[in-house]
Amino acid sequence: MAKKIVVIPGDGIGREITDAAVAVLKKTAEKFHLALSYEEHDAGGTAYDKCGTPLPEATLAAAQAADGVLFGAVGGDKWDAVEPALRPEKAILGLRKGLGLYANLRPVKVADALVEYSPLKPELVKGADLVIVRELIGGIYFGEKCESEQVDGTERAWDMENYSVPEVERIARLAFETARLRRGKVTSVDKANVLATSRLWRRTVTALAPEYADVALDHLYVDNCAMQLAVRPTQFDVIVTGNLFGDILSDEAAVIGGSIGLMPSASIGTGTSLFEPIHGSAPDIAGQGIANPLGTILSAAMLLRYALREEAAADAVEAAVDAALAEGRRTADIYIEGTGCTKVGTREMADAVLAHL
Ligand code: IPM
Ligand code: MG
Repeated sequence: MAKKIVVIPGDGIGREITDAAVAVLKKTAEKFHLALSYEEHDAGGTAYDKCGTPLPEATLAAAQAADGVLFGAVGGDKWDAVEPALRPEKAILGLRKGLGLYANLRPVKVADALVEYSPLKPELVKGADLVIVRELIGGIYFGEKCESEQVDGTERAWDMENYSVPEVERIARLAFETARLRRGKVTSVDKANVLATSRLWRRTVTALAPEYADVALDHLYVDNCAMQLAVRPTQFDVIVTGNLFGDILSDEAAVIGGSIGLMPSASIGTGTSLFEPIHGSAPDIAGQGIANPLGTILSAAMLLRYALREEAAADAVEAAVDAALAEGRRTADIYIEGTGCTKVGTREMADAVLAHL
């Protein structure tokens, strides 16, 4: 039986980048004799325009029944005035919750060919290789909130952050296990000097540490971690943190590798896993065919590895991406004039990857 991949292009550049990644999946399937079937579904602003909701029931149901989900991006200024509960972002938040995707893995690795593209000094980023393990369905993102209320004649809004011990334990365990397969170091990031949720987080992670005595654990406050990522990114192996801190730190960490356009992610839970680039829908360049497809192609590689357990196929896609970069193919976000590289569009970049498969 063919494994079913649900493809959700979403908004903005989502269509271009998922098309590129599906082309790569198809070629890989052919090469490795994998039986894959694809089913496309709407989400985000596009779905809202068509049927009045950012996450149609059919999309969630198909995702739940799939072997893996490949997601593009959602959002755009066009929907800024839409009421909060129907914003395009609700599509990805609803999918994460609906699929029980409690962990988001965001690897950051600097390809040798791209060291000079990082805004940080080459000697600082060379060899950086870390993964952010972000808690994805708890914390302030999913706590109780109030859009607007009047208190003593003044308008206010609030969002509540809360974490339970089991929520922290399951993400911490995944981080420890991830570190075991890497360099054996976990850095837990919180704001325990100020926040109660962070103190519970730190206590819970620390209590688990004896079970993972082969893994080194340290703790950093999020503000210090943000600085350390820019000062000495090579010190990190696995960073584990809550939903909001993980969102912010992963965008910061992405630039270490040269461009956010290169960064894939895997969201893992109890059922179907979902794979998406960490950049957004980039409405300013949508439809121009210039977006970098590599973050999505590398997300497809993670789908092969984590959802389908096809390690060799995943390795082949990653090697083909490295080869395309090594021969000097560059989309606009990673192109520097006068370096002898070739500036290419989305489709040509995908073709270069296909050629190396
Ligand atoms: C991300 C994005 C999302 C998030 C948005 C689109 C809701 O920024 O995946 O990092 O905040 O989680
Ligand atoms: Mg983000």
